[in-house]
Amino acid sequence: MNQAGKTVFFRKDYKAPEYSIEKIDLNFQLYDTKTKVTAISCVRRNNKENRSPLILNGENLQLISVKIDGNVLSSSEYILDNTSLTVLTPPAVFELEIVTEIYPQENKALEGLYQSGPIFCTQCEAEGFRKITYYPDRPDILAVFTTRIEADVEKCPVMLSNGNLIETGSVEEGGRHFVVWKDPFPKPCYLFALVAGRLSCVNDEFITSSGRAVDLKIYVEEKNLNKCDHAMVSLKKAMEWDEKTYGLEYDLDTYMIVAVDDFNMGAMENKGLNIFNSKYVLTSPETATDEDYIGVEGVIAHEYFHNWTGNRVTCRDWFQLSLKEGLTVFRDQNFSAEMNSPTVQRIKDVQILRNFQFREDSGPMAHPVRPETYEEINNFYTVTVYNKGAEVVRMVQTLLGREGFRKGMDLYFHRHDGQAVTCDDFIAAMADATGTDLEQFKNWYCQAGTPVLEVSSHWEADSSSFHLTVTQNCPDTPGQKGKNKKPFHIPLALGLMTENGKDLFGKNGCKTEILHLKEQKQTFTFTNIAEKPVVSFLRDFSAPVDVKTFQQDEELAFLMKYDSNLYNRWESATRLSASTILDVVRQLEKGTPIQFNELFFDGVLHSITEKIEDPALLALALELPPETALALQLDSVDPDLLFQGRTIIKRELATRFQNEFLFLYINNQEAGKYRISPEAMGRRRLKNCALSYLMSLNPPQDKFLQLCIDQFSKSANMTDTITALRLISHHPGTTRDALFTDFYRKWEHDSLVMDKWFAIQAMSSHENCLSTVKHLLSDRLFSMENPNKVRALIGAFSSGNHVQFHAINGEGYSFLADMILQLDSINPQIAARLVSPLTNWKRYEKRRQILMKKELERIAKKPGLSPDVSEIVNKSR
Ligand code: PHE
Ligand code: ZN
Repeated sequence: MNQAGKTVFFRKDYKAPEYSIEKIDLNFQLYDTKTKVTAISCVRRNNKENRSPLILNGENLQLISVKIDGNVLSSSEYILDNTSLTVLTPPAVFELEIVTEIYPQENKALEGLYQSGPIFCTQCEAEGFRKITYYPDRPDILAVFTTRIEADVEKCPVMLSNGNLIETGSVEEGGRHFVVWKDPFPKPCYLFALVAGRLSCVNDEFITSSGRAVDLKIYVEEKNLNKCDHAMVSLKKAMEWDEKTYGLEYDLDTYMIVAVDDFNMGAMENKGLNIFNSKYVLTSPETATDEDYIGVEGVIAHEYFHNWTGNRVTCRDWFQLSLKEGLTVFRDQNFSAEMNSPTVQRIKDVQILRNFQFREDSGPMAHPVRPETYEEINNFYTVTVYNKGAEVVRMVQTLLGREGFRKGMDLYFHRHDGQAVTCDDFIAAMADATGTDLEQFKNWYCQAGTPVLEVSSHWEADSSSFHLTVTQNCPDTPGQKGKNKKPFHIPLALGLMTENGKDLFGKNGCKTEILHLKEQKQTFTFTNIAEKPVVSFLRDFSAPVDVKTFQQDEELAFLMKYDSNLYNRWESATRLSASTILDVVRQLEKGTPIQFNELFFDGVLHSITEKIEDPALLALALELPPETALALQLDSVDPDLLFQGRTIIKRELATRFQNEFLFLYINNQEAGKYRISPEAMGRRRLKNCALSYLMSLNPPQDKFLQLCIDQFSKSANMTDTITALRLISHHPGTTRDALFTDFYRKWEHDSLVMDKWFAIQAMSSHENCLSTVKHLLSDRLFSMENPNKVRALIGAFSSGNHVQFHAINGEGYSFLADMILQLDSINPQIAARLVSPLTNWKRYEKRRQILMKKELERIAKKPGLSPDVSEIVNKSR
């Protein structure tokens, strides 16, 4: 227990289970107001001598009966409390029958068995199975599941569970029917799933490399049948990719995906029966943006890849979450890179890391990729576990090479198929398969914080040698002092370039060398370097570190134009734009007249006027870093000045390069049919980026406003429509209102499209934004019980509208606190996720610090606050 009286879990306390469950037969009888669950398990004691009690987890359950080998237990033979059922002296091997009643229609936390509209569905990861029946709810207990479902034929014509359908029939009780599913693969209960309801299905087939036919089924509401093509194509691509890249085939005869509207996360990899947030399944050109298309492809692949990395080999305990999540994100990133543009994909990966993970890593919730402790595991599905975890796996691949990495993966599956294992087991497989020493590398798993690198260099003309000195330091993080941290093993991908843009290395066509930084300070020497080189450092972002800028703006401008590593061109462009904006912010702070960094403007002009190789890359280079990312580079953030500084630079660019932007806008219009190829998506991104500059001019220009309105009314694709609406949202007035009304009328029947309508209004930089948001809370299409709506309105305002959320009157903060308090009694997981923008109060200037802290205190005082919100609030106070 901690001071607040909450139970705290520690990684070091892991103990192997006392009992194992070989198989479990579940029987669900679904009714309108309750569901009866009968669970019959074969239980075996692992330890012969020790006659310890059997502890089963259970929450929100109505216990009806417990039997052992057919005999009803009397109440003196077990202990029941709010979170567990303990059988006091069970035999060594026995059959356990437990009957419970549950109430899915009242379950708004969306964990366990719940209803999304009329559809019954489950969510068991991480600890949701205990809301279905009493069970040892831990991932290292693997059992074979057989599931019988019985329900009304009319209401639930479709009834699904994991594995293969082995029986169907009707029940004597009027109008009811049943199905039986059996999953032959032993699995932890967090991978259990059940779905029942009125669903329609799109069918396809995939022939595996060994020639087996797999039925592919996507279940959606009937009205959405025409929006599943892209998801199906993505699934087949993912199946093929995993065979080609890792030799991994699918293992059941059917692969099912179900889309539901109410879901806490993106999707869930339940064995053979993935359940998805409909946002990551449904697409059509009229309703989904390019970003949505890419998101669907990525999430479909992610869940599919879990079948091997997560399901066949699972986690021993929840501290090992990154074992499956870091590895699976790494796999889906590589898949998306191959399906689209590798450089664009890499930039997006890095943006997530920099804009979100670095922030988490520097705040009160910072934790290692493999946490040492938690209060509520749901709070640890984080960008650190997922995305930094993926970077750690990527570094392993960089150290071992692609072939070595593949050998490591092969050994990992060979050793651990069917087991529940740890991050150490993963690293051991990688090390053993290639004979690499990864001991020091493991620090990445246990030390939190983003290492900071400082770089210096000098070139000696006499000896034609070049010396590069790099130091690493890791800041303090909760419970870990920086000075006690051990140095990380950091792969540094380095290029040295001549002044006319040639790479100096050329071994086997490889222009990049991998340096191993292992000491706190290390010098690398290069010989035969006849002229002073320009350093292209950390190519492709070879490690999740924060490199202090060590180059002059001239060098950055040079790299932005000529670096042979395309990722680093973007990196240099971003560094230059960030420093240019922050310069202006400092000048605003001091009240001195604004002077611009001309090198930056030269660089931008050069990129705009160069021959365009990849339109998406140009767009990414032109898009200025978001305020949340810039804020990380300031010690005491004033959100108003930051917004002003960024706006000044954006307008200055728009003013100077008006003609160029207009040219880009016109020249990147769609020629011919709408397509979702990387090239077409890149053009749309570039065109819309240009329009965004033109719309930022102050005073606004009628001709550009008209361009934007025309785009809104003529476009037949959601990317262009929503961009136009977003750009107009910053300009209040009757035109804006008319477009929003128009859009509402057109799309009110489509919940996912309406999420965009809510989000855009919540992100308007206009100062009456908060009052609009408050007003929208009572729109008939808004619901606090639907996580997508909460994210669209409240989430978008608090984490996507930096300047308005941080308004100095503190109303943004108190609004968010009100919402968190309200949501806490409905859906604690979603409530806890909303706290994040308040947790980093220390980064802000004094007045805001006080206001933010006050709201955290107010939340903390709520009687009966959920463990989810309580953990985050208390750790950030
Ligand atoms: N395991 C899911 C994924 O990564 C995420 C998830 C976690 C979904 C917890 C629901 C609940 O794909
Ligand atoms: Zn996952």
